[in-house]
Amino acid sequence: MESIINFSYIAASVLFIFGLKMLSSQKTAKRGNLLSAGGMLVAIVATLLKQEVIDFQWIIIGLIVGSLIGIFAARLVKMTSMPELVALFNGFGGIASLLVGWSEYHAHPESPLFTIIAILLAVIIGGVTFSGSIIAYAKLAEKIGGKPTSFKGQKVLNLLLLLGLLASGTFLGMDPADSYPLFIGILAAAVILGIFAVIPIGGADMPVVIALLNSYSGLAACAAGFVILNNVLIVAGSLVGASGLILTNIMCKAMNRSLANVLFAGVGATSSGGGDYQGEANPVSAEDAYYILEAANSVVFVPGYGMAVAQAQHVVRELAELLESNGTEVQFAIHPVAGRMPGHMNVLLAEANVSYEQLVIPEDVNPTMSTVDVTMVIGANDVVNPAARTDESSPLYGMPIIDVDQARTCIVLKRSLNPGFAGVDNPLFFREKTRMLFGDAKASISALVAEFKES
Ligand code: TAP
Repeated sequence: MESIINFSYIAASVLFIFGLKMLSSQKTAKRGNLLSAGGMLVAIVATLLKQEVIDFQWIIIGLIVGSLIGIFAARLVKMTSMPELVALFNGFGGIASLLVGWSEYHAHPESPLFTIIAILLAVIIGGVTFSGSIIAYAKLAEKIGGKPTSFKGQKVLNLLLLLGLLASGTFLGMDPADSYPLFIGILAAAVILGIFAVIPIGGADMPVVIALLNSYSGLAACAAGFVILNNVLIVAGSLVGASGLILTNIMCKAMNRSLANVLFAGVGATSSGGGDYQGEANPVSAEDAYYILEAANSVVFVPGYGMAVAQAQHVVRELAELLESNGTEVQFAIHPVAGRMPGHMNVLLAEANVSYEQLVIPEDVNPTMSTVDVTMVIGANDVVNPAARTDESSPLYGMPIIDVDQARTCIVLKRSLNPGFAGVDNPLFFREKTRMLFGDAKASISALVAEFKES
């Protein structure tokens, strides 16, 4: 039986790795997801075959309750709230690892040093991931302010907490059997550290935090795998940990910032930052926007969070098709941090059957921008803010943006002149070549589609 279980674990790990590889391309992502889910099924069945499982009752109760929560969450949560749900799921991963570590320590406080170290890692990383993810959830869901929150001495406090955790862990390792109160103290300190580590980060830096917490949840699971000596948990945890770190790196590059700067600088904490851009915005009606588009040889759509809110992706695809049949070259420029979760725009456009060939990244489209007739900014704001290029006082300064303002005409679809997630004003709205098509993005695009169909 032991070899069957181990063989199944190897098979599950192979499925995870191939599934992950397939997730890197939109064409294969759906199958990759199914493949990894299949791997998880194999891993769960193999684990249930273990001789150590002495009571199936609690497992079945957990399975039913967990599945019900999962089904309801997936069906009821709105697409725009998915990032918050993902943040919560990271937190659940963290608390699960913490509980595995705690229960093992509770049952066997006299475990060998190796197991005690694994328990401490599962509890500390799991605790930080749990509370950090809850804060990230609250920021994304706007339950608390999304801006970085810092106070005097915060970095020192975080450092003291970290050093305290290291010192307490060492003491506990020397006498694990008689250190239950110390263990509870470590657990509490880890949860507090998670809160203080994430509250100073906010605004446009949130993508980095989400990716990092995702990575932590994997590392915590990996440590939990060492606690209960479960090979597939070690492998799966390492995969999540490593891919989360790669994603963190991609997000840092997208912001043009170092990880240390994102974690410790608290950019944007003191004020909204950046210039106070005021002026006359040039509104445009759907009818006039139609004339501009109808005459265009090339159009670049730049979707952002507002497209997700309006659920405008299907009408956007319809408009793109109408433009193409009118002889216009159409592209979709996707910024890596557009929306509220990695790949947010890609998921929405794939759902609307926009062809992958039409998607372009900022590095490729920006050099050609001056030759583009019209850029259509659909509910994007921070990722097209030209202040990121020029205004050193802006919290967005240095973040590579999509240079929509370089095109011959830029049409911005949003409901007002309000700022985006980072809370920073956008000078784009007052540029000479910019036209503001005010209103809900879906309603505005539908009006444009109607104009094309009527003509
Ligand atoms: P944002 O800068 O957040 O701007 C979205 C804009 O959409 C808003 O200014 C809003 O303006 C508009 N909007 C909202 N509902 C709309 C509707 N129904 N119809 C039309 N417009 C609507 O979005 P972005 O440019 O995609 O930038 C993303 C931001 O989120 C970045 O700062 C990024 O760092 C941050 N973030 C990203 C992630 C990931 S991983 N992608 C995670 C967390 C945070 P009105 O209110 O005027 O309509």
